[in-house]
Amino acid sequence: MLSKIIKKIKDIVYRFKYRNFSYLQKLEAGVFVRSYYGYCIYKSAELGVKLGYKRITIIEFGVAGGNGLLTIENHCEEIKKIFDIEFDIYGFDTGIGLPKPKDYKDQPYLWGEGFFKMNLNLLKSKLKQTRLIIGDVKNTTKKFKNKDNSPIGFISFDLDYYSSTKEALNIFNRNEKYLLPRIQCYFDDVGTINSVGELQAIKEYNKKYKNRTLSTIYTQVFNRNILGERIFEHHMFDHQKYNYLVKPIKHNKLNNDKE
Ligand SMILES: C[S@@+](CC[C@H](N)C(=O)[O-])C[C@H]1O[C@@H](n2cnc3c(N)ncnc32)[C@H](O)[C@@H]1O
Repeated sequence: MLSKIIKKIKDIVYRFKYRNFSYLQKLEAGVFVRSYYGYCIYKSAELGVKLGYKRITIIEFGVAGGNGLLTIENHCEEIKKIFDIEFDIYGFDTGIGLPKPKDYKDQPYLWGEGFFKMNLNLLKSKLKQTRLIIGDVKNTTKKFKNKDNSPIGFISFDLDYYSSTKEALNIFNRNEKYLLPRIQCYFDDVGTINSVGELQAIKEYNKKYKNRTLSTIYTQVFNRNILGERIFEHHMFDHQKYNYLVKPIKHNKLNNDKE
């Protein structure tokens, strides 16, 4: 309890110190509560622009109360001021909290059916532009396949379960014109052994496909809020734009190696 209060005070002091800094400087310093979302959106926007896209799609799998989506909307507003790009934002959720766990890989010792219920009307009233896709990701991800969306640039996976994450990963099974060749992915629940949960779903995904992979970046930027170990990239090696030369923009620290 005391350590939480101390952390909160430290956060307030840190934010105060950076109050007059630009959005990008704050992002680099990890001032925001979910700087990692800003980091991933920034990187996807940068790649999108370099590949000539005017819009990209941002997805959150697992919405619950919507704090993550509201943060995504805020970061997108700021990043639109840096890059000439628009965002299409989608949030996928059952709307009624976690389904029943299927087996041990869903880690029923940590969570269970009905956890993280959403107040749909309240959330809709707060969201500015996000489209909510309500239903089990097993069905909604497949339906989304037929959607004529702008290429996906960033996905946050926060469904907690192995079984749900495995279904959500089907989002990559679509025509390459709906995907950037490299997609930023945030996995919220990788803090466990790699035989259960999200890590097991990722492992199976990587085993299944020869021309694609999901991996962390070993020299990812780490700072107090950008959780490099939870950020993965989805690479699609046979994407026709995979080999286009896209040098990172040098004007910021986000493309540097570990701090
Ligand atoms: C931890 S919460 C998400 C928290 C949210 N990302 C945030 O930052 O506040 C996990 C969510 O995943 C959703 N979920 C889990 N399995 C699902 C499935 N098979 N289909 C759709 N939603 C699912 C649950 O309804 C729950 O709201």
